[in-house]
Amino acid sequence: MMNDWAGLPATYGDVLRRAMDSLFRTFENFSEGTFIVDAEARVVWINKRYAARFGFSDPEQAIGRDCEEVIPNSLMREVVKTGKPILLDILETGREPLVVTRLPLKDDAGETVGAVGFALFDELKALTPLFSHYSRVQEELIATRQSLAQARRAKYTFGSFVGTSAASLEVKRQARRAAQLESPVLLLGETGTGKELLAHAIHGGSARANWPLVTVNVAAIPDTLLEVEFFGAAPGAYTGADRKGRVGKFELANGGTLFLDEIGDMPLPLQGKLLRVLQDKEFEPLGSNRIVRADVRIIAATSADLPALVAAGRFRADLFYRLNVLTIQAPALRERSSDIEALAYAMLEDLSAQAPGASHFELQDDALRLLCSYGWPGNVRELRNTLERAVVLSDSERIDARALAPFIGPARSGHRPLVSAGSEAHASDATSEAPDVTSSWSEAMAAFEKRFLGDALRANGGRVIETAMQIGMGRATLYKKIAAYGIEV
Ligand SMILES: Nc1ncnc2c1ncn2[C@@H]1O[C@H](COP(=O)(O)OP(=O)(O)O)[C@@H](O)[C@H]1O
Ligand SMILES: [Mg+2]
Repeated sequence: MMNDWAGLPATYGDVLRRAMDSLFRTFENFSEGTFIVDAEARVVWINKRYAARFGFSDPEQAIGRDCEEVIPNSLMREVVKTGKPILLDILETGREPLVVTRLPLKDDAGETVGAVGFALFDELKALTPLFSHYSRVQEELIATRQSLAQARRAKYTFGSFVGTSAASLEVKRQARRAAQLESPVLLLGETGTGKELLAHAIHGGSARANWPLVTVNVAAIPDTLLEVEFFGAAPGAYTGADRKGRVGKFELANGGTLFLDEIGDMPLPLQGKLLRVLQDKEFEPLGSNRIVRADVRIIAATSADLPALVAAGRFRADLFYRLNVLTIQAPALRERSSDIEALAYAMLEDLSAQAPGASHFELQDDALRLLCSYGWPGNVRELRNTLERAVVLSDSERIDARALAPFIGPARSGHRPLVSAGSEAHASDATSEAPDVTSSWSEAMAAFEKRFLGDALRANGGRVIETAMQIGMGRATLYKKIAAYGIEV
């Protein structure tokens, strides 16, 4: 049967053959180069121009060689192996890059018997519209990434770490060195000693500073959600609220730093997974068959006694050793009380800036002495909270010991701001040891100390040795004070 296309052969098979024939010829004519390999990816045919481009004056010289030997970076072997085409790709050559198409050649049974490659355009000129679109999209992507990274950038720098005591200077020295290196960092120290601040400063001072700093607070996330939080999940991978799937923090931090806060709280099974990711540098999000490569630097922090957790079998020794490379111990505030003044002033300046109006808070000498005599179990964070409360509730911008004393120590319910009208009415309740407006500094101090020690002892179930350790006071001193104040244990 003839169809309307005059001159075309009648049968389907003929049309197909004709189409294939002209397709090949067209490609061959327009391409910079054409070549064919066999099932072993050896060159069986190459056109003159293409052979010449790769240094073979006679195409015959290229025949029988491995494709990569003739065309460095050739991916024809992959096409032969997978049987799948690579429709559009860019081949880097010693000279200009080439746009290439690679197609498998199949026999009648569908077996791959070789592959044919066309280098379609020289110097990518013909693809200019496509490429300008591509580079615009690429630029937008980079801009978006940068603004995201900006949001995830380090909040603090080394300059934010206030303190000139020997202990502080040593910590800053170690942290600066850690910023120059790539190994994991382990930050140890009580709560509120500035571990998170240091993590930000280390990231900000490192070569990764322009990539994200991503934080996971292990203690704040329920165990069951931690794995997804870390590694992400494919859509529908689990029957949680997040049907859409989720990008894990590891992937978000790619190129940058992952800060694992309170790592001592990490459940054992997840510790094993984390260790594997640190070793393999890749992982699979939950329920996906996708392998994600993770170029992430780890900074871990904990206020727990990690070696003790290892000894108790609650923290994997192998993970501990992996993390324990650059270890920095953030000193407790009571071990560097010479920094308290500078810290207090830095914080007051900060708080003044936040307060309405042009406030300028100042500490009287007695207030400063009071700050230095306290043990600060909550460290710098507690110091900051104390000053914040004092600033908010104080009537005057000049804060003295009397104004400060009620805010030092554990916050308690029924705790009243000083100098409020009718405060005497509470004189016999639980806060009765709180200093009275009419008391002297030493009386206020004594009242404060008695209350503080009583609270600390109660918090430790009356155990003197533990209390002494917690508040950083000698055991013998504590016994003496308990007796002197008549504190009931
Ligand atoms: N050396 C320091 N200089 C200034 N501020 C500090 C310092 N150390 C801690 N801080 C502040 O104290 C608070 C607690 O610090 P953070 O880094 O969260 O402690 P951690 O992570 O050890 O519990 C934060 O507001 C932080 O900015
Ligand atoms: Mg913290």
